[in-house]
Amino acid sequence: MNYIGSKYSLIEFLKDTIGNVTGYTSGEGHIFADLFAGTGIVGSTYKEMGYDIISNDIQYYSYVLNKHLIENVPVTDSSPLEYLNSLNGIEGFIYKNYCAGSGSGRNYFTDSNGKKCDAIRTELEEMRGKDIDDPVYYYFLASLVNSIDKYANTASVYGAFLKHIKKSAQKDFKLELLPVIPGNKGTVYNKDINELIKEIHGDILYLDPPYNARQYCTNYHVLETIARYDDPVLNGKTGLRDYEDQKSSYCSKKTVDKVFDDLIAHADFKYIFLSYNNEGLMDLDTIKAIMSKYGKYACCTREYRRFKADKDENRQIAADSTTEYIHCLIKE
Ligand SMILES: C[S@@+](CC[C@H](N)C(=O)[O-])C[C@H]1O[C@@H](n2cnc3c(N)ncnc32)[C@H](O)[C@@H]1O
Repeated sequence: MNYIGSKYSLIEFLKDTIGNVTGYTSGEGHIFADLFAGTGIVGSTYKEMGYDIISNDIQYYSYVLNKHLIENVPVTDSSPLEYLNSLNGIEGFIYKNYCAGSGSGRNYFTDSNGKKCDAIRTELEEMRGKDIDDPVYYYFLASLVNSIDKYANTASVYGAFLKHIKKSAQKDFKLELLPVIPGNKGTVYNKDINELIKEIHGDILYLDPPYNARQYCTNYHVLETIARYDDPVLNGKTGLRDYEDQKSSYCSKKTVDKVFDDLIAHADFKYIFLSYNNEGLMDLDTIKAIMSKYGKYACCTREYRRFKADKDENRQIAADSTTEYIHCLIKE
């Protein structure tokens, strides 16, 4: 998934750094926590390496993705795929509120893709507990969230829709299944990290908070509603759901230092790794000062080429180079 702050392209840097600091050569018998999980790419990578994973995110669509990626292990039933893809579209919540044909004034999906999404989402809820168990429900719901994103008529996030339907959004929607990640069955939460941290412990804690004021709840509100399918009241031109409970303290200069300090103070983990670059709301000196209070601190960096999104097509264009940082702490 094309996700703000995804660590997909930085995974090797992360693996090298974590391996060098911990000296762990396998995940066997170790707990790895990915508590700002987003797409789940980091937790999935460490699940495959044999770690027991704890995953968490405040957004429900991310919880759904991780319920599948982290908790499901092969063998998982993929048989309903053909049936779900053969369903006729229906005029459900997505069509009525996010497609132009319904008169919603919003253009997030073509009419037929919106209706198709509604049909699959409605049927999944019907099948849950009768024809499919929870692991299969999350397998398909996670796959729906991941698949539908490829057909969204946006520049990259859901903060706005495009006026004209772009090429990739014109294609007929097809549900495609996410991979089932081999490894141990992990545990997934949908909580504010500062609450959860008091309830868990482990060996490696990986932290990848938002680093600027852009809230995930507003940028991915359509995926949140597809995942929840809870008939929310919508507001404004872009049809935002209420997000008061999901506003992140890590997205505000006023609160970030305090919640970050609280997080590190309560973390019952030997090793802590934080991805945070030099353009974020917390400056590097503050990060160093906070982490150093709780043990031995070091910072690793690597140069990367930066890409930016092309507005009309979903393409990435090379811009300039950027330095990626991983802040490491061995807690004492
Ligand atoms: C930079 S993204 C993580 C990206 C992820 N590592 C990946 O590669 O896909 C930050 C994530 O933190 C989540 N988040 C923000 N504030 C949070 C909080 N207080 N507690 C839990 N999750 C939070 C956001 O919903 C978002 O998914």
